[in-house]
Amino acid sequence: MNKITVPFIKKAKGKKIITALTAYDYLFARIIDQAGIDIILVGDSAGTTVQGLSSTIPVKMEEMLYHTEIVHRGVKQALVVSDMPFLSYQASIENAVENAGLFLKKGAEAVKLEGGVAVADIVKRLVSMGIPVMGHIGLTPQSLNIMGGYRIQGKTKKKAESLINDAKALEDAGVFSIVLEGMPEEVAKEITEEVSIPTIGIGAGRYCDGQVLVITDILGMDPDFTPRFVKKYKDLYKEIKDAVETFKNDVEERRFPAEENVFHIKER
Ligand code: KIV
Repeated sequence: MNKITVPFIKKAKGKKIITALTAYDYLFARIIDQAGIDIILVGDSAGTTVQGLSSTIPVKMEEMLYHTEIVHRGVKQALVVSDMPFLSYQASIENAVENAGLFLKKGAEAVKLEGGVAVADIVKRLVSMGIPVMGHIGLTPQSLNIMGGYRIQGKTKKKAESLINDAKALEDAGVFSIVLEGMPEEVAKEITEEVSIPTIGIGAGRYCDGQVLVITDILGMDPDFTPRFVKKYKDLYKEIKDAVETFKNDVEERRFPAEENVFHIKER
């Protein structure tokens, strides 16, 4: 299969359903890539999934650059998109260009940033500098404090209209796709019909042009996190815990290492 590029994703609308998953390191990125997923998102969800934070707000540029670098090493085919963390693009357009450029130097092929109308000028400048941008609207985790929690957005007619405006502003600014997170599927459907670029949903229902989920969520690695919009394809929490407990018992009861795990001298 050919390398997935930004123009490929743009042209996929109406022809192919886009698949996307997050990755934060080399091993997971390689598995996801070899499974044929179109987009690997180096999400700032790294903060909550691998760093144990309660939100993505404290995630730093240098951490996202590190995750990008080690994900990129595992990817041959998928498009690598990196999340710009909170405060890496909001302060000024110059700051946004510099930080987005650093992601491309580490191997990302595009960046994602949160917001609609409010970030349209930033997006426009990044795209004009040759930096592809994926938009992200709806439940935008970096705006946790404004939203008053992780709440589904666009539930009233007025708020739904504002999301549609955000999507159009991002399209005009030049994004190649938009993540629609945490909104009624009717709103996501309308946005998907109104814009010419692909929409990629997470908790946004069945009518988007593609779907994205967090890798540790689909693998069931956190038994305390079971939101409605996630489908758990495995219970890796249990499987990993079982394996670790078995190792512990094997060591304590001298079943490991066994004859097949040891080396011997050839002659004394
Ligand atoms: O950080 C993240 O993982 C995201 C998603 C859209 C899943 O932004």
